[in-house]
Amino acid sequence: MTNQETNWWRFGVVYQIYPRSFQDSNGDGIGDLPGITRRLDYLVDLGIDAIWISPMYPSPMADFGYDVSNYVDVHPMFGTLDDMDALIAAAHERGLRVILDLVPNHSSDQHPWFQESRSSRDNPKRDWYFWRDPAADGGPPNNWLSRFDGQAGWTLDETTGQYYLHSFLKEQPDLNWRNPGLRAAMLDVMRFWFRRGVDGFRVDVSYRVMKDEALRDNPLNPHYLPGKMDPHKRLVERYSKDLQPDIHEFNRWLRAVANEFPQRVLIGEINLPLERLVTYFGRNDEIHLPFNFHLIFTPWNAEAIRSMVDRYESLLPEDAWPNYVLGNHDQHRVVARIGEAQSRVAMLLLLTLRGTPTMYYGDELGMPDGVIPPERVQDPWEKFVPGMGLGRDPERTPMQWDDSAAAGFSAPGVEPWLPLAPNHQSLNVASETADPGSMLNLTRALLQLRRKHPALHAGDYAPLDSAADIFAFWRTHDEEQLLVVANFSSETREITLPQGKWHPLISARGTLVEAVEARLSLSGDEAVVLKAA
Ligand code: GLC
Ligand code: CA
Repeated sequence: MTNQETNWWRFGVVYQIYPRSFQDSNGDGIGDLPGITRRLDYLVDLGIDAIWISPMYPSPMADFGYDVSNYVDVHPMFGTLDDMDALIAAAHERGLRVILDLVPNHSSDQHPWFQESRSSRDNPKRDWYFWRDPAADGGPPNNWLSRFDGQAGWTLDETTGQYYLHSFLKEQPDLNWRNPGLRAAMLDVMRFWFRRGVDGFRVDVSYRVMKDEALRDNPLNPHYLPGKMDPHKRLVERYSKDLQPDIHEFNRWLRAVANEFPQRVLIGEINLPLERLVTYFGRNDEIHLPFNFHLIFTPWNAEAIRSMVDRYESLLPEDAWPNYVLGNHDQHRVVARIGEAQSRVAMLLLLTLRGTPTMYYGDELGMPDGVIPPERVQDPWEKFVPGMGLGRDPERTPMQWDDSAAAGFSAPGVEPWLPLAPNHQSLNVASETADPGSMLNLTRALLQLRRKHPALHAGDYAPLDSAADIFAFWRTHDEEQLLVVANFSSETREITLPQGKWHPLISARGTLVEAVEARLSLSGDEAVVLKAA
């Protein structure tokens, strides 16, 4: 086996597909698995290496699939198990890996496990979930909050007079991984998909799975501003996530199962400060790629991004491989966050920094946030806390393939489940393919460049001191020395180059075409990769 194969998840690029929104194949306005299969050639041509598909399991869709009612099947809306097998086979034929979403923190309240668990206090599956007696005043057992409405994270179940815990919606009861039966059942879910050829899992809110044994109250957040902040931020989540000692044991349980199969990868959805995030690598026996969301959350200026990258690099344990995420189905689109011009700089950074990049579908086109009229809101978060910009529908609008009525996402005349973003007629795969200066062609070129140069997909990283508003760094591998220079301002910036002649391999805005020496005058919103000529 070559190093390239064994370490595909280090060298490759992950592309996230939100299955409801990628390609509808049967005219119901909702994306599906056969739709994804049909578009695999587009992804090969784009130049990515692995797709991660958000949940496609049977689900009442209270949280659009993150409320799973059967972990080992496919929702009829998305297709069948046969469709999934066909998708895996078609992807593998093309050299693409397939990563599924594992949702271990909670199931749907419609999952048979929960139905059994809630049926009586002495049901054998009672302890698969968190059941507790009411507090002395009849209220919830502690002060923990549910993620989307900021109300109690506990719901009283009349049948047995006890409360059950739900870190998210009441339709998403939390699973108890300290129970050996539940644990064995969930680990078997992983094996079920690994045996079908799935190459890895992205593990949903994996850092929340273990909770304080005593379920102690969370402290109040002294910085909370009522009405201005997500109501859930009222408390500091001291006891309901991360810091429990056995969270690392949880990581190792998952890793041990992944290790039963060759070349499988675990990606953790871990939204934590860098110091905490890096503990999730363990000693190369926990999560292969704990998602690093700090390109999303760090203020978009050269100094802040550089110091984030340097700090991350310096914190990584031995043998740990870095990664970066620029967008996903829970965050406003990168174009909406930092603007169209800087989103090109961001794509160049994502694809030239050291570490596995995860791209979000549509970001290669520069898709904007959609505009969702109130009557078409789908996301429960927006429904519970309207008007604060928390809703996630805008970043989940259908993929824009062409200028037909439903953008090639659905047949013309079909109303997609979420409205298409307003610019779908001008901004789509077809129009951008034809435009040499498009975001799509830039992304393709960057992906090709990354694949071709070991310095980019496998090399070392070192920052280079330069000028204000500029983030510059080396990527080196054996003899190969590349220099990446990104201008975070909209105005021209000058930097002094290391000795020698520098030849541009790529220029995000196409303003640098000739080799340069000594001084580089870099246009606003421009980013380049240079090679010693
Ligand atoms: C993760 C998912 C998000 C979901 C939540 C609850 O954060 O990315 O979409 O709502 O978990 O499962
Ligand atoms: Ca469909």
